[in-house]
Amino acid sequence: MRAKLHELEERRRASQEGGGPERLKKQHAKGKLSARERLDVLLDPGSFVELGRFVEHRCTDFGLAEQRYPGDGVVTGYGAIDGRIVYVFSQDFTVFGGSLSEAHAEKLVKLMDGALKAGVPVIGLNDSGGARIQEGVASLGGYADLFLQNTLASGVIPQISVILGPCAGGAVYSPAITDFIFMVEGISHMFVTGPSVVKTVTHEDVSFDELGGAAVHSRTSGVSHFAYADEASALKGVRTLLSFLPSNNSEAPPVREPEEPPERGAEELLDIVPDHPSKPYDMHDVLRRITDGGEFFEVHREYARNIVVGFARLGGGPVGIVGNQPAVLAGVLDIDASLKGARFVRFCDAFNIPIVTFVDVPGFLPGIGQEHGGIIKHGAKLLYAYCEATVPKLTVITRKAYGGAYDVMASKHIRGDLNFAWPTAEIAVMGPKGAVEILHRKEIGAAQDPDEKTAELERSYREKFANPYHAAARGYVDDIIDPRHTREHLISGLRVLANKRDRNPPKKHGNIPL
Ligand code: HXC
Repeated sequence: MRAKLHELEERRRASQEGGGPERLKKQHAKGKLSARERLDVLLDPGSFVELGRFVEHRCTDFGLAEQRYPGDGVVTGYGAIDGRIVYVFSQDFTVFGGSLSEAHAEKLVKLMDGALKAGVPVIGLNDSGGARIQEGVASLGGYADLFLQNTLASGVIPQISVILGPCAGGAVYSPAITDFIFMVEGISHMFVTGPSVVKTVTHEDVSFDELGGAAVHSRTSGVSHFAYADEASALKGVRTLLSFLPSNNSEAPPVREPEEPPERGAEELLDIVPDHPSKPYDMHDVLRRITDGGEFFEVHREYARNIVVGFARLGGGPVGIVGNQPAVLAGVLDIDASLKGARFVRFCDAFNIPIVTFVDVPGFLPGIGQEHGGIIKHGAKLLYAYCEATVPKLTVITRKAYGGAYDVMASKHIRGDLNFAWPTAEIAVMGPKGAVEILHRKEIGAAQDPDEKTAELERSYREKFANPYHAAARGYVDDIIDPRHTREHLISGLRVLANKRDRNPPKKHGNIPL
């Protein structure tokens, strides 16, 4: 027995070595942590339990029979984050560039299958040269198996992808199907075809970073939800994100002991919304004064900044917050904002996280670019997402709620549970200027001073319609509240709705306008 134990220890030690010290040195020289160092940063100390450490590839072509590394380029297993179990994989770039062989794919699929059965999140640390070139179609098959598993797990367990190296070709589609993508500036790259193929096909010169770096994907494409300056911060970000999420879709999100009482008011909320209706303000200033500890873990911070989405706690319980952002493009809804909002709302709904919506929206963005880009179908995604969501939905209209955008932003009509308005709310078909120009065109044209006439008519329209009282009179708004007490109203509402039951008609799945 002792001799066999000695062999086991030797084999276990060898399995920790990955592609060897030289390649590890190269990994570090690029400013990257090793696969195992990453797990140490991500997980609670000492909590990692490895599974599949002795798995090897089965390829004998290209001299691979002589090159076998236990684990085959990916470390898999489970561990804990703040004491809660997560399944994890960490690709090892020192073994064939972390490339995906048939055996490597089987490890990932088995891990995800286990996570699905156990009802725990999967976190993937991706650092891979893509399909193991020597294995050809077996590797492509492995990717497809992975895509299927990602899709089956979608909406059942949270799936988080951290990109910590190259991620190219079809390989990008596994992270793309997962719920959240984290990237790190300088070391993460995602693209379907790299710079050299781009050069051949479109004759464009572009660097790795310009084509698919963290900045591009977190600001321009929206592929990445989070961008960090270094690996350790990104992995810490994953831990924070998980603190808001349940382990699976049949659990409630984890509640913390609240640090502040619900009735903690905020006098400053009286002065954030400017008196002038077209003056901007930062919605973050509102959110910070309402959430527990002023915390707001923002998702997609750099992308479509005219809408803000993210997680916070109210009375200790996690909520998903969606807010129009008057400081950027006046908070208008455009294609990107609609996509960003819709995906977030659907995530919250899938994982039992109540949605709190802060509304100050002048409408959908007009323009040829938006119309030709499909604002109709993309705007409809946000509408559809809010309509189908059955989690508690609470709404606070701080200022403008105009036109179709009023309906979309968790209005009473689409199953808003509790709809509040501040006294500064303006709820109408359109803003005073547009309304007056349409309704009184002839009158204005005939006036001696058309500008003066327009201003007068606008004033009277504003007095009549640009307030929350018409909506409240119809019951579309449940109460008009003192902004200072918003937190208390929301926490009380969340308590009332804690056992909310609502369901959609039975169906295979809806047909969201993709
Ligand atoms: C096998 C690979 C590999 C791969 C890298 N390696 N990629 N081995 N299959 N796909 C190996 C290298 O041979 C090398 O081995 C080690 O990993 C490190 O690679 P380097 O090139 O030295 O590293 P670096 O200079 O950092 O460049 C990294 C890289 C480059 C940009 C990822 O290696 C590269 O371009 N690789 C090929 C990428 C690719 O075309 N993959 C297929 C994409 S298509 P040694 O022994 O020297 O350490 C795809 C289809 C998926 O993935 C489809 C899904 C549907």
